Amino acid sequence: MAVALEHIDLYSPDGYVDAPPYEVFATLRREHPVFRQEMPDGTWYWAVLKHADVVEVSRDPVVFSAEVGGVVLEDQPPEQLEQTKNMLLMMDPPRHTELRKNVYPHFRPRQIASLADRIRVICRGLVERGVEADEVEFVHDLAALVPSEVFGEMMGIPPEDRPQINRWAEMMTGGQDPDVNPDGYTASSGNDGSMNMAIYGMEFAKARRDHHGGDLGDLLLATEVNGQPMTDLEFGYFFVQLVTAGNDTTRTMISSGLLALLEHPEQFDRLRADPSLIPSALDEILRYANPLHYFRRTATTDAVVRGQEIKAGEKLAMIYTSANRDEDVFDAPDRFDIGRTPNPQLSFGIGEHYCLGVHLAKLEGRIWLEELLASGATVELAGEPRRQRSNLNNALKALPVRMYP
Ligand code: HEM
Repeated sequence: MAVALEHIDLYSPDGYVDAPPYEVFATLRREHPVFRQEMPDGTWYWAVLKHADVVEVSRDPVVFSAEVGGVVLEDQPPEQLEQTKNMLLMMDPPRHTELRKNVYPHFRPRQIASLADRIRVICRGLVERGVEADEVEFVHDLAALVPSEVFGEMMGIPPEDRPQINRWAEMMTGGQDPDVNPDGYTASSGNDGSMNMAIYGMEFAKARRDHHGGDLGDLLLATEVNGQPMTDLEFGYFFVQLVTAGNDTTRTMISSGLLALLEHPEQFDRLRADPSLIPSALDEILRYANPLHYFRRTATTDAVVRGQEIKAGEKLAMIYTSANRDEDVFDAPDRFDIGRTPNPQLSFGIGEHYCLGVHLAKLEGRIWLEELLASGATVELAGEPRRQRSNLNNALKALPVRMYP
């Protein structure tokens, strides 16, 4: 092993700045697939690194709770944890099961497919904007606008409010990077985007009860929780959840996807020559450059994962970045192959909390690629890509490119 066990640090966000620690993950998958990792705050967690084990933990929400300790590794102060429990992602059954059943109909493939024409107009406009500009910072100038415009239109959020909402979302999820959130890590900082966004969501709900918009905003407001329509507070938290879950991840899928294609020009040429590969290319982008490194669970009872005893109360991280390159599941896992099938990547999770927005994210990714290819534009790097300092977001924070007609 290149690095001695005691020197391995899967937690430090610094270890993800140049690239995720793929080699260390590969060694640990062979030698310590459930790895005990210390954290600077004196606590520690089990890093679950094999594909099959991430699936097993994800599929047992009763033993491995999302609610007890939340989904990020840093333990939250009790009052903050209490608030996050209002979000679908951080709920356990039976509360989770009921809310999920009620909101799911709005996110079914058929409902989402009806957005395709609008998404195409948005993506076409953004490709045109990129070609007209001399040079663009692709992450923020183009990729970020796909989910933010689409979600803004779906929900009826005024266009002038969308940049501020994006900014709050980025501050919330990118708190480990001083460029993204100069005030420090959001879990311990009151000055984060979540409160502002929840207040925005609650005010949006209040205004919407008097003036309907005939969109998803109305449908969600009418969704029942415990036999009653959502309260403004419940809506506020659901709003935060949708924006944070949907914005940065989709932006990352689009920007990291473009970078992967630029770094593998033979795959980019292959896609241009055969656009019918777009769906499998998108799955490969999601596998190879999964937008989220991990989500956390907390054991509610003693359990065993791959022979490792886990005690009640201990925390686990389901490391998607490792599972997506597990050689037991994927041939040549480090190869970027846009024709890869089957491709059981875990970038949207699996089981009870499987991403609610998966059909929307994939539709946006597919139409974006279709419009990019249809434009015939040539894209090239115009500077060094920069990655976010984060053990949670596998994201770019800057991707300077030039696009030619
Ligand atoms: C490429 C884009 C996206 C990625 C990689 C992604 C990833 C994920 C992952 C890994 C989970 C589940 C985690 C777990 O098991 O705890 C999740 C859940 C969720 N996602 Fe996404 N997501 C994306 C886009 C979206 C979009 C566009 C929306 C909504 C508009 C969305 C809304 C949600 C919600 C509400 C949940 C919680 C579901 C539940 O707990 O039942 N996501 N997502």
